[in-house]
Amino acid sequence: MLQIGPYTIETPVVLAPMAGVTDLPFRRLCSELGAGLVVSEMVTSDTRLWNTRKSRLRLDHSGEAEPRSVQIAGGDPEQMAEAARQNHERGAQIIDINFGCPAKKVCNKAAGSALMRDEKLVQEILHAVRKAVDIPVTVKMRTGWSPENRNAINIARIAEDAGINALSVHGRTRACMYRGEAEYETIAAVKQAVSIPVIANGDITCAEKAQEVFSKTGADAVMVGRAAQGRPWIFREIAHYLETGEHLSPPSTEEVEQILLSHVGALHSFYGEYTGVRVARKHVGWYLQARPNNDQVSESSADPVGFRKQFNALEDPEAQVEAITTYFACLKNGEDIAA
Ligand SMILES: Cc1cc2nc3c(=O)[nH]c(=O)nc-3n(C[C@H](O)[C@H](O)[C@H](O)COP(=O)(O)O)c2cc1C
Repeated sequence: MLQIGPYTIETPVVLAPMAGVTDLPFRRLCSELGAGLVVSEMVTSDTRLWNTRKSRLRLDHSGEAEPRSVQIAGGDPEQMAEAARQNHERGAQIIDINFGCPAKKVCNKAAGSALMRDEKLVQEILHAVRKAVDIPVTVKMRTGWSPENRNAINIARIAEDAGINALSVHGRTRACMYRGEAEYETIAAVKQAVSIPVIANGDITCAEKAQEVFSKTGADAVMVGRAAQGRPWIFREIAHYLETGEHLSPPSTEEVEQILLSHVGALHSFYGEYTGVRVARKHVGWYLQARPNNDQVSESSADPVGFRKQFNALEDPEAQVEAITTYFACLKNGEDIAA
């Protein structure tokens, strides 16, 4: 169980914010498949930029499970405060501040994990946002800005003093980007240093790994990012294992087909035909790559790589749905889908 302000999150397994991935259709799907909490893709704190179609879609929360957590990114305290206020007005119930993204600049200003270097600015941002809204505010960060400067504990203490309600920590420094393996010692040290909830993140790819990260860190919850791409049912698998110590059976081919078709349909209607078709290509690639019996599939005639090539050339939603249906029919019958 994870407590964030007034919200009790029964399943302590959280979907990480991922720009370009955790859009509304994906967040809804992960919630349905067992994620206790999902976090939106980051939105810039510069509200002047919110009038683009991309930003408008990122600010849409229709039909989303509660509490709705929205991540903001930026380096100016007053702008961040204003962005928090406006997101709250648009339905956010938790504001998550991004000190974790390794991108150098967001809108030409230092933002994300680059900010971890400037503890005074971090403090100013946290106080400004905390003052601006009376809903829970959380922080997502890395373990530091370089392996020599793992200052997550300092930032965690600053956050706790500022009245922040929970912290997510990705077990890498900013300089590490996504290289090497995540380490959990610093996350454990952060958990020891503060009394607000800590969510452990980084390289959690299966139920056992989630359990291992809980034991190593003492964290209140775990957060899963990349492993949920093409495998949104990972949340129910982890939740089941944590509860019972037993593995949930993987979804059947029929269920994967049904989940994928409903995901792709949701993308088409959310983004509209042109963009929906393009966003769907990326997700379909992940689903097929993540198929548990991918090797067997490649050896048989139902070759997902060949299928992906053909699929990526399709330009309209109906053709995508038909291709997926044919792919799964062939997969179930062991026939050649490339024919
Ligand atoms: C494509 C992609 C986009 C991401 N976008 C964000 C983001 O907008 N905000 C953020 O705080 N972290 C972002 N991250 C970092 C993830 O939230 C997470 O911390 C990281 O992927 C490590 O977790 P994982 O090993 O479970 O993927 C992103 C990661 C990826 C792969």
